[in-house]
Amino acid sequence: MTEIPEALSYDDVLLAPQASAILPRDVDVSSALHERIRLNLPLLSAAMDKVTEAPMAVALARQGGLGVIHKNASVEAQAAMVEGVKRSESGFINDPVTLRPDDPVDRAFDLMAHYRVSGFPVVDGDGALVGIITNRDLRVDIEPGSRVHEHMTRDGLITAEPGTTLSQARDVMQVHRVEKLPIVDPDGRLTGMFTFKDIEKVHKYPNAAKDARGRLLCAAAVGTGPGSEERAAALVDAGVDLLAIDSAHGHATGILEFAGKLKDRHPDVVLMVGNVATGDGVRACADHGADVVKIGVGPGSICTTRVVTGVGMPQFTAILEAARAGAELGVATIADGGVRYSGDVVKALAAGATAVMVGNLLAGTDESPGELVLAGGRRYKEYRGMGSVDAMRAGSADRYFQADKAAGSAAEAREPAKLVPEGVSGLLPYRGTVGEVTAQLEGGIRSGMGYLGATDLADLADRARFVRQTAGGMRESHVHDLDVVHEAPNYQVPGSG
Ligand code: XMP
Repeated sequence: MTEIPEALSYDDVLLAPQASAILPRDVDVSSALHERIRLNLPLLSAAMDKVTEAPMAVALARQGGLGVIHKNASVEAQAAMVEGVKRSESGFINDPVTLRPDDPVDRAFDLMAHYRVSGFPVVDGDGALVGIITNRDLRVDIEPGSRVHEHMTRDGLITAEPGTTLSQARDVMQVHRVEKLPIVDPDGRLTGMFTFKDIEKVHKYPNAAKDARGRLLCAAAVGTGPGSEERAAALVDAGVDLLAIDSAHGHATGILEFAGKLKDRHPDVVLMVGNVATGDGVRACADHGADVVKIGVGPGSICTTRVVTGVGMPQFTAILEAARAGAELGVATIADGGVRYSGDVVKALAAGATAVMVGNLLAGTDESPGELVLAGGRRYKEYRGMGSVDAMRAGSADRYFQADKAAGSAAEAREPAKLVPEGVSGLLPYRGTVGEVTAQLEGGIRSGMGYLGATDLADLADRARFVRQTAGGMRESHVHDLDVVHEAPNYQVPGSG
């Protein structure tokens, strides 16, 4: 038998400190997954149904990261989530949703609920602005069947001309005490709109990750089963910036062929393919059109892949190998899963990953899907693997090549118990808002870079000198010789929670 190489996990290594002339607050933590996907915080949220829907994607993009919206939803629902993120805030709205004077007022209510906005410009058949209708106009009793023109404000509309800047728009809205400022060309046609709320957000979240038009970045997952091409097309139409082909084994012919097909069909969309855990896996994905490759087979907190199948690669070694191949080919690599502390993020970035994807650390926040659960006087949120039986029944079985056994299939109808799960579900302690979690993660990254004297993430990877730690080193690294540990926002005793 040939010699068996050793592979390492985050806990097996530490970064040696180095001479440093930089303070944590001065380091640059930005990272580019692609020329159009520039993050100001190298963090992605997992494409999982208990982690990323529109609220998570919005919250994370505001902090500079990127949310990947899960696909355990109908095509329409997932596309609407993407659209919701892209429309959520941009300072300037290029293509505002509009109403026609003859539209029923009920349509205004529906659109307000759908887009979670407070009003719309009203245009005629030529696109000329004829009024504005907001929830203020609709506070009165509304006659059933009445039309938009009966309620809209038409006189004294405050508008501005094309070319108005964000700060000019803010001044005009403050002077006239209006919430919306339609932009109208010399022919009276509506060409865009500012909203006060969005402008405030631009000031409140200066590090937000945005596209060239100032809209928050948004990614979304697709599988490879029936209907996946239609799903991808709908997501592209909704404005998605990055499509993620989500599979537990990206180094598989069917996945790679589908990647090539999607790249041909949507050459302008950034394509992420995964998951793989070797340099060969990265090369195969890149050969089939991947711009970004996701790394991780079995490290996730809810994953049982390694135990169920005997297959996987400890995450630190997987990242080292994959990042090396990625750097040679010019593709970005994302370290996906297994992150428990901010120090793990630093190790992944120092090993060469472009950014890090987390599920567990974000699943307990306000912005993850699902309600708080109370147990024993403490607050929790539910978290589950996409390979758990429940999640596979809800749509993710194709991630584990078991779509034929999932709900609705003929085989499942005959023998419903045959899904072979590769994940579990459970409860996580409530962790507050996404902003609170990312502040701790970002703080940890900055401090780690400070210890190494690294000015930016490329410098971090260049300077990194890893050492192996023994079980003794691990014990020494964690809290020890203390009976009661008060909770810290960035530390949990291993095995607790
Ligand atoms: P963390 O450790 O952040 O990991 O919870 C999230 C990542 O785990 C992957 N994932 C799974 N892997 N079985 C698996 O083997 C599963 O059921 C499962 N669900 C999610 C996924 O890559 C995610 O980003």
